[in-house]
Amino acid sequence: MRVIIGSDHGGFQLKEAMINVLKDMEIPFEDVGCDCQDSVDYPDYALPVARRVADGEFERGILICGTGLGMSMAANKVKGIRCAVVSDEFSAQMSREHNNANVLALGERVVGPGLAEKILRTWLTTEFAGGRHQRRVDKIGTLEDE
Ligand code: RB5
Repeated sequence: MRVIIGSDHGGFQLKEAMINVLKDMEIPFEDVGCDCQDSVDYPDYALPVARRVADGEFERGILICGTGLGMSMAANKVKGIRCAVVSDEFSAQMSREHNNANVLALGERVVGPGLAEKILRTWLTTEFAGGRHQRRVDKIGTLEDE
């Protein structure tokens, strides 16, 4: 699995922590920035991450801002992206098993680094359950063509 990760200034410190988790898990990744805590606009990072996941260049994306909300709103504008804002381990598991989320959004001002690590590890290692959930995910996809 290859992962692409990005943040705005509000998520920069948590991004650096999550990169250490990716390294520990020996998961190849690309970091699209930002590179410091100077103020930037979250869509500028959400869209390249989402587009490159949607294009199939990366299997999964990780986006981090202050709340995870702006990142998820922007990422979900891209066709084929199912971005879930997650702040607990159960939702991390369900977003994969039931929703086949391909982008994870985290909020640095919402979850601490310890919980974020557990969320990330769960999200990266949980497989989509398929079956009846595939039908439902497909129905989300049809909305993109309306
Ligand atoms: C930046 O202040 C903040 O608005 C951003 O990181 C994010 O939380 C937006 O959803």
